[in-house]
Amino acid sequence: MSESQLWDDVDEYFSAHLSPEDDTLQAALRDSDAAELPQISVTPTQGKFLHLLAQIQGARNILEIGTLGGYSTIWLARALPADGRLISLEYSAKNAEVATRNIARAGLDRIVEVRIGPALESLPKLADENPAPFDLVFIDADKANNPHYVDWALRLTSTGSLIVVDNVVRGGRVADPDATAPDVRGTRAAIELIGSHPRLSGTAIQTVGSKGYDGFALARVLA
Ligand SMILES: C[S@@+](CC[C@H](N)C(=O)[O-])C[C@H]1O[C@@H](n2cnc3c(N)ncnc32)[C@H](O)[C@@H]1O
Repeated sequence: MSESQLWDDVDEYFSAHLSPEDDTLQAALRDSDAAELPQISVTPTQGKFLHLLAQIQGARNILEIGTLGGYSTIWLARALPADGRLISLEYSAKNAEVATRNIARAGLDRIVEVRIGPALESLPKLADENPAPFDLVFIDADKANNPHYVDWALRLTSTGSLIVVDNVVRGGRVADPDATAPDVRGTRAAIELIGSHPRLSGTAIQTVGSKGYDGFALARVLA
């Protein structure tokens, strides 16, 4: 058996017992596929992990950067109380439209708002609204801008908030100081920002699963 088949099988086993998808989550992926969105959403086990993180945080306000079809959005929003709020930023109008339908079908449209546009334009507008600090920020968009997203996350959070940066391994290239690809450079800059910033304490974990070799960084906002 190949290594990746083994990762698939184990992920399927974990998903079946720990993070089974209901009809709504399955429909969100089905409709994303039908609209030809790329298959780059988090896996069910990762979705459940985000959901648990939000619950552990007692999150009331969540910011997501990178919506795609709203799959991770649904996992995260389901951890919020009825009066909670999730704002998700998405560049593509088409992706946002698919996500908005998926979120409405999940019954989460009262607490979730998808904002269309480049996140680096949406973030200053959001900051101008003086929102309550976000308890959790999930960064999962264009990797070249990861350090800017971590910086914005810091401005929009407060002590105890959590920042999660997805896909930080970049096939292992993250460890290459000579890498020139913008996604790797952006991810390295985000990791180094987290590691050196006096208001952040973070780590990063490598993972394997049904979407291959990957990993995420997690940072807690200090005082
Ligand atoms: C990996 S996908 C998000 C997956 C989603 N979080 C999930 O797990 O279901 C990345 C998304 O970020 C969006 N994106 C890329 N560049 C962006 C930007 N500059 N601003 C906002 N969104 C962006 C893409 O259009 C895509 O939908």
